Amino acid sequence: MGLRFDGKVSVVFGGGSGIGAAVSHQLAEEGAEVVVADRDENAAGDIAAKICTAGGKAFASTVDVADASAVETLIRSVVEKFGGVDLAVNSAAIGGARKSTADYPLDEWRTVMNVNLNGTFHCMKYEIAAMQQRGGGSIVNMSSVLGSVGLPTASAYTAAKHAIVGLTKVAAMEYARTGIRINAVGPGWIDTPMLNDCLEETTVRKMLTLQPMGRRGKAEEVAAVVCFLLSDQASFVTGSFHLVDGAYSAH
Ligand SMILES: NC(=O)c1ccc[n+]([C@@H]2O[C@H](COP(=O)([O-])OP(=O)(O)OC[C@H]3O[C@@H](n4cnc5c(N)ncnc54)[C@H](O)[C@@H]3O)[C@@H](O)[C@H]2O)c1
Repeated sequence: MGLRFDGKVSVVFGGGSGIGAAVSHQLAEEGAEVVVADRDENAAGDIAAKICTAGGKAFASTVDVADASAVETLIRSVVEKFGGVDLAVNSAAIGGARKSTADYPLDEWRTVMNVNLNGTFHCMKYEIAAMQQRGGGSIVNMSSVLGSVGLPTASAYTAAKHAIVGLTKVAAMEYARTGIRINAVGPGWIDTPMLNDCLEETTVRKMLTLQPMGRRGKAEEVAAVVCFLLSDQASFVTGSFHLVDGAYSAH
């Protein structure tokens, strides 16, 4: 039996770290060619090199998802080089400031929205256009458990992650008859640099009391759900939001 993604061309935005890196590895292990796209050139290069060393096919590309024309150029170059885009994962994001709404700095609000929300829109816009040329494809957008519930002091991040769920639903309906499936995933607290480097250990421990499994999830546990949604095994799954949150949102 062939691997799930044999011959498929995939692009993983935010593929240089954490969940995006785990998705990149799993896609390559299952036979896909992976374009690891990230703002951090070294991180993208490192993940692509590790995949190639393990016998997979990967290429690194540097891009800021907040820059629509840079995303368009990247997708165009993938189409020119590999013949199209079959699979895409939009995982690039930042955490942003932790301040109550009235104190939330305006410039920080705009930065978080530009990366987390506008960035996801930019990626989808050009991925969908490429997939239409290809005659189909599958996209997974990285929302969060904060696309479902709120977290005080995280207004920009929470608003962007809720909006990603809405964007996913609209686009899934628009392209449901074209062979393009679009879903969103909502991780709970996952053991990645975003969680570990941006938040104090006491804050993380407090958050974990809200996650009934009592531990951080692993990036690989989220990647497994992402890869299922990307695969033909999920052929009737589109427009939906899949929590991978250790029952965080079951409260
Ligand atoms: N870790 C968690 O607990 C958690 C929980 C819920 C949702 N998420 C979501 O999962 C996704 C991945 O997060 P992670 O935990 O792996 O974080 P991470 O920080 O490990 O990885 C994020 C990657 O995105 C890249 N990136 C950031 N801004 C970018 C930009 N403007 N353009 C291109 N690349 C950019 C970073 O360089 C990094 O490589 C994010 O969308 C995040 O919001 C994470």
